[in-house]
Formats: sequence, C-alpha cells, structure tokens
Amino acid sequence: MAKKIIIGNWKMNPLDIKEASLILSEIARNREGFKNINVVVCPPVLFIERLSSLSKNRVIIGAQDFFFGDVGSYTGQISTKMLKLSGVKYVIAGHSEKRAVGDSDILINQKIRSSLSAGLKTVLCVGESVRDESGDYLSFIKNQIISDLDKIKKEWLKNLIIAYEPMWAIGKNAIRSADPADVLEASIFIKKILVELFGRDEGIKVPIIYGGSVDSNNCVNFLNQGKVDGLLVGRESLNPVNFIKILKSVNEI
Ligand code: PGA
Repeated sequence: MAKKIIIGNWKMNPLDIKEASLILSEIARNREGFKNINVVVCPPVLFIERLSSLSKNRVIIGAQDFFFGDVGSYTGQISTKMLKLSGVKYVIAGHSEKRAVGDSDILINQKIRSSLSAGLKTVLCVGESVRDESGDYLSFIKNQIISDLDKIKKEWLKNLIIAYEPMWAIGKNAIRSADPADVLEASIFIKKILVELFGRDEGIKVPIIYGGSVDSNNCVNFLNQGKVDGLLVGRESLNPVNFIKILKSVNEI
C-alpha cells in the first residue's frame, strides 16, 4: 500500500530559527514510529538549510514557493535547483495565499513545469472560493487544473500530487472545515479530469490530498471517507504535539 502523505505548511511562521528548530526537532524525534507516512514539513525558505541538516532525513523538507529557471536575473526569486541543493524534496505550487498576491495560472504552470522537470515532488493546490448550488465551483477547479498542468509530460506525473484546498476551509478565517463528503466529491472529480488529460493508467495514479482546517479530530475521516491519499496541514503543523497526534492517527489507518 502506498504511504500516506502528510505535509505541514508552516506559511510565514515561526518568527525565528530557534523556534523553528524546536518544532522540527520535536516532530523528528517522534517521527520514527510512523512508518506508513511520508512526513513533509515546509518551513519559510530562510530556515530550510538549517532544518534540513537538523532533520537528518527523518522529516522530508519542502518549500512553500519557488521560481522557474535555474539561475539568472530574477530579483527576489529562488530556483528549484537551489532548493534541491539545500535538501528540498517537495515544493508547493498554486496555494491560494500565493494566488491571492498575484500568482496567475500561467506563472503556476511555468513553476510546475520547472519543478517536475527538476524531479521535485510537486504539490499543486487547487480549490474554489465558494460553493454555489449550481456547481460552478467544479468548472472553476477544472479550469485551474487544465491551465496549471498545460504541457506537463506524462513521465513527470509520478512526481505530481494534487491538493484540494477549498479557500473557504483554509486558515483562521475558515467558515468551516470541509465535510469528508465534499472531499470525496472533489477527489473523484479531480481524478476524472486527470484521466481525461493523461489517460486512465497515468491519471488515476496521481495522489490527491486534502487541506483546510485539518486537525487531530477530523484527519482520519478525510482519509477514510474522503478517500484522499494524504493531508496538507497549516496551523496544526506548527504545534508539534497536535501534528504528532495527526501523524499517529493517520499511521494507524
Ligand atoms: P490550515 O491551512 O490548516 O491552517 O487551514 C491549510 C493550508 O492553507 O494549507
């Protein structure tokens, strides 16, 4: 059975490397028992190199954002090659908080082509801002996937993961977390689009994960009833006790 994927997205937290090291060390120290999970943590980029050496591969280190190309005149940007050399194995693209400050589908597509061709596990986040009764949110998700995965080669798909992250379920201002039934519907719908785009054999294999107000009480339901392959965890991944509780529950499924 494929390992479950649990990714902690720390966003712009914590404030300093001291606290970041404490959180990471605590997760790494407890990680040993969870053999059925790929445990990934995506800290702010400034902390990556230090945390990567601290984790000694017990926790996989990921990046929350990146740019296309290897090196060059791109002020303020960081390339997939640089991240790889710093020990990064996973990257997140298309998070709604990045889309909100300007990442377009065209830019996200360029980033994804760059990270997949570099051999990095790439988590593409998609999800609607509102659920309307007429089901327009489904075409919104479909358009995101089609645009963001334009010109993706089939041989790259082994490194692609899709995260269903409805915006209304994310962060402190979340209206509520999604129901497992919402997640099941979205994951079946996303699989169907992937099969249409890449063919049955390839499309069906791309893991789908869920993110948005995940905690130790609801995590198991998303996997069991929502039928996803893993979780993208924001706030609760900064609290090592709670994050470990999530890992423990998922490991026991
Ligand atoms: P949250 O964030 O778990 O704090 O809702 C999830 C995410 O944005 O990935």
